[in-house]
Amino acid sequence: MTTASGGMTTEQLREHVATTLTRGRERTAALIEVEPDELTAQHSTLMSPLVWDYAHIGNQEELWLVRDVGGRDPVRQDIDQMYDAFLNTRASRVALPLLDPTEARDYVRTVRDKVFEVLERSPLAGRRLEEGGFAFGMVAQHEQQHAETMLATHQLRAGAAVLHAPRPPAAVVRLAPEVVVPAGEFVMGTSTEPWALDNERPAHTRNVDGFAIDTAPVTNGRWLQFLLDGGYDRPELWTTVGWAHRVQAGLTAPEFWQLDGDAWSRRAFGVLEPLVDDEPVVHVCFHEAQAYARWAGRRLPTEVEWEKAARHDPATGRSRRWPWGDEDPTAEHANLGQRHLRPAPVGAYPAGASALGVHQLAGDVWEWCDSGFTPHPGFEVFPYEEYSKVFFGGDYAVLRGGSFGTDEVAARGTFRNWDHPVRRQIFTGLRTARDLTAAERG
Ligand SMILES: [Fe+2]
Repeated sequence: MTTASGGMTTEQLREHVATTLTRGRERTAALIEVEPDELTAQHSTLMSPLVWDYAHIGNQEELWLVRDVGGRDPVRQDIDQMYDAFLNTRASRVALPLLDPTEARDYVRTVRDKVFEVLERSPLAGRRLEEGGFAFGMVAQHEQQHAETMLATHQLRAGAAVLHAPRPPAAVVRLAPEVVVPAGEFVMGTSTEPWALDNERPAHTRNVDGFAIDTAPVTNGRWLQFLLDGGYDRPELWTTVGWAHRVQAGLTAPEFWQLDGDAWSRRAFGVLEPLVDDEPVVHVCFHEAQAYARWAGRRLPTEVEWEKAARHDPATGRSRRWPWGDEDPTAEHANLGQRHLRPAPVGAYPAGASALGVHQLAGDVWEWCDSGFTPHPGFEVFPYEEYSKVFFGGDYAVLRGGSFGTDEVAARGTFRNWDHPVRRQIFTGLRTARDLTAAERG
């Protein structure tokens, strides 16, 4: 299998859709395995109650797959407004007369049963929404994106640990600090990936100046050096906007870091533990990432640079689906899918390196890019404006690559995420870049 539908028969595609939907449901079901009052509580004003996310997943699935693709009667039209993310801010959702945990589970299960009936009958072709199983892929991505949001809610909740996972693999290779990417064209975006969203389209050629980029994400150990060197107290390292935020928000370290005596610890999913030096730093905002990069004498990569480092194969001139090639990820390629609940140490995934030799681009931590969220040239809205278009040009920075909390269905090489530059409850880190010197440019 080289693409989500490439080379597959309709039956194989149907099987792939079913497997992907089921994987998402297993994940979200595990994330609601907590006491009922934990499901309905507001753990942070930044987040929805877990039970809202869960029923919202079912409601979106009902809207797109039961009603639109399936042409079936509504299951619960009366709850559409309550689970519309645009009509209700996250902070306000706790006050709505939400389905209780039992009702939410029943509703979500009823919708899924109908979706499997619709899937059996769909030609997975014809209408653009059904071509290559797009609508099913979009809904599967939506559930997995909420699974990551729900995981972030778990990180924000107080109390003892309820989620458990094995540790990621150890580092097996020692990496050079940076990789030089020579100037030249590369193909950004995609016109062929069947489940790619509108903002990833179309494929188009970009000419990129030469640059150097970190071989791996910035680690806790390096971040601690920045912190101990007064990184949070030196306005000259920060942009004007970034420093104003640093002061107003009282930032002194990444979120969930804690100083005990003279040792820093990190709280992850209810467990306080010593910092692991060679793990990518996580829970830093865009402003902090920019300050770190300036302290290191570098800058954040642009989104175009990031994608070239991840996808460009200089031997063939083509862009890959994933850093390592066109085949879908395995456990050897990347730390994805909540298989582990933390980033892996740098050097843990040699099989996942890009053609240019850049490591751990997929999984581990989302990486802040020094780019706003804008449409690719030739962008067309599909299937609705609220997915991407309404966010273009807003107060956002682009995030690329996915985290340990992201499923592969929402982490392919062209996948684009974006968030406000002050956000850090998500699983965000960074890698830095620099321009080439005159001598390096040759
Ligand atoms: Fe949603």
